[in-house]
Amino acid sequence: MRSVTFDASSRRWLLRTPATSYVVALADDDAPRCLHWGPVLTAEQVAALPAPAAFGASSFDSTAGEEELATEAGARFETPSLQVVFPGGDRGIEWRYEGHDIDGGHLTLRFSDRRQPFLIELHYRVHEDSDVIERWTALRSQVPVSVLRCDSAAWSVPMLGGYRLSHVTGGWSSEHALSRTELVVGETTLTSRRGLSSHHANPWLMIDGGDAGERHGEVWSCALAWSGSWRVTLTRTPSGRASWTGGFGHEGLTWRLEPGEEWVTPVFAGVYAPDGYGEASRRWHDHVARHVLPEPDELRPVVYNAWEAVGFDVNEANQKDLARLAARAGVELFVMDDAWFGGRTGDGAGLGDWWVNEDRFPDGLNPLIEEVHRLGMRFGLWVEPEMVNPDSDLYRAKPDWVLHMPGRARTLLRNQLVLNFARPDVADWAHKWLHRLVSEHAVDFLKWDFNRAFTEAGRPGEPDQDRLWIDHVRAVYSIMDRLRADHPHLRIEACAGGGGRTDLGILARTDQVWTSDNTDAHDRIAIQRGFSQIYPARVMAAWVTDSPNPLTGRSVPLRFRFHVAMAGALGLGGDLTRWSEAELSEAAELVAVYQDIRPVVQLGRLWRLPYGVQYVHGDRIVVLAWHGPAAFGTPLPPLRPAGLDPLARYRDEDTGAVHHGALLMSRGLPLDLRGDYASALVRLRAC
Ligand code: DGJ
Repeated sequence: MRSVTFDASSRRWLLRTPATSYVVALADDDAPRCLHWGPVLTAEQVAALPAPAAFGASSFDSTAGEEELATEAGARFETPSLQVVFPGGDRGIEWRYEGHDIDGGHLTLRFSDRRQPFLIELHYRVHEDSDVIERWTALRSQVPVSVLRCDSAAWSVPMLGGYRLSHVTGGWSSEHALSRTELVVGETTLTSRRGLSSHHANPWLMIDGGDAGERHGEVWSCALAWSGSWRVTLTRTPSGRASWTGGFGHEGLTWRLEPGEEWVTPVFAGVYAPDGYGEASRRWHDHVARHVLPEPDELRPVVYNAWEAVGFDVNEANQKDLARLAARAGVELFVMDDAWFGGRTGDGAGLGDWWVNEDRFPDGLNPLIEEVHRLGMRFGLWVEPEMVNPDSDLYRAKPDWVLHMPGRARTLLRNQLVLNFARPDVADWAHKWLHRLVSEHAVDFLKWDFNRAFTEAGRPGEPDQDRLWIDHVRAVYSIMDRLRADHPHLRIEACAGGGGRTDLGILARTDQVWTSDNTDAHDRIAIQRGFSQIYPARVMAAWVTDSPNPLTGRSVPLRFRFHVAMAGALGLGGDLTRWSEAELSEAAELVAVYQDIRPVVQLGRLWRLPYGVQYVHGDRIVVLAWHGPAAFGTPLPPLRPAGLDPLARYRDEDTGAVHHGALLMSRGLPLDLRGDYASALVRLRAC
């Protein structure tokens, strides 16, 4: 069956995914409209869909909504997806359909404006093994144009009795806080103006009718593949419709499109799930694995990172000591964090001076790398290429390389400034030293950090200043892509002061994300729950660190800390020199258990449970259950696994007990979680 079909008589295109259909049609005035986004429809059913309505009910109403890209022309009063100003002040787009192209699962609808020599392409892509629909927009003009807004896509859902919005909020060390609230009548904007996708919001959303749960109810969801600032505006009209438009950049930015130039937006992808948030998440996870990640099937190694152990006080001796202990615990990749370079002995100096600090590593990095290899681990390094401390040789030599505006203060955050990667010379400098670093040392892994937001985002002398918000991100993507192409063994972790740069754009060229600087296992449960809404376990880096936790001061048992971190890509991050022999032995045992369940966690499908998670991969099932502080002696309700075969039997791989699938799903697992921070790991295999 073809994934994109066109009916010329009704001017309708049908996009099919394995379990959903999307129908786009032209209204009488050629404006492209969404007729359906939901369950699979037959061609006959598509033909029976009502034609797109032209106008609303009164002279004060806009057109009927459901626009594929809302423009400004005519009776359109909702948030525009596309806002352009032509020479002389003419603005708005009157759609004229120019044709379409179908190339496998890729549909391009071509339009022009009826007055101006301006071309708009709406792109759609579907895959045979994903229910996600990818959409983006391309513009081309024969006259110079100011682009005030160019979103990737607008999406609308069928009229529902109510609308509930799911998204995440947060801050540094509290990323991915899941929020589920009624969508208010009016406009709701989710955005980042910080130059990164941000800790405070994340570029995705889910909409349901207020009646969905983990395992039931229709859910419509979108995610933007972009790592810079962004904006999504949702509209719920008083007449009861809901739609949203989203893309890169925040409000107030203006880009100049020169004649002949092409402007292409990032992908704003969408997925429909008929059966709850859980299925929506699984569809995203499958899509990220099949169509976003560069190395989806590779098992992520168990990492050790000494940031929480030594902070900025790295040196050859302490790294070697920690490496020996990490190897004993079963670690596979040893990562040296900040402060191995330049004059970096704290956060006040040295950033930008990317040569090995000879006081700390008198014979260079090789003796440490050799020791790490001798211990059977791979070696990784922390870098923060987009930043500079004013107290650095780089800044003293190139003060103009940072984002700045003449006459204005250069705002310091964490004592650092942002290098302007939109300048080709700056991006080229960064690519060269990174390439040299990876070529001259046996570096298998880079932790690529980004520790402050943009301010004074200017480039004096550049006529199109606001371009840097876009071009900076594109330059970062391009450097990562080139490094990966030139060093096929290299793996990259995206980090921005924890999880501030987590999105489908960065995931297309990285292997995992540092989820949060908050490694408290209790807090991590909520952070990981929010993270898991869109992003799969294999990219969710999770360390076991010290107790009491250095950030929160909370003490929880080692086993609990492991059981929480095992829900993602496990790592260790504590000061192992202070762990007792018993703790190191327990850690080694738990790392070995993780190595056994790793294919299930990292390659399997996720079900979120009321106080745990479940992963299913082939005939294996892993359940991780966490009981926070005990309260009032009230017993926990049974933890009931999901998605099992009711007629199958499952053997507990640790106890040998055999359970009926139907009984596990109705009566729950035989767990006995008592006391503060009790936890369990259950390994089942269909037998
Ligand atoms: C912020 C990161 O999130 C931390 O893990 C650590 O790498 C520090 N930066 C180093 O400065």
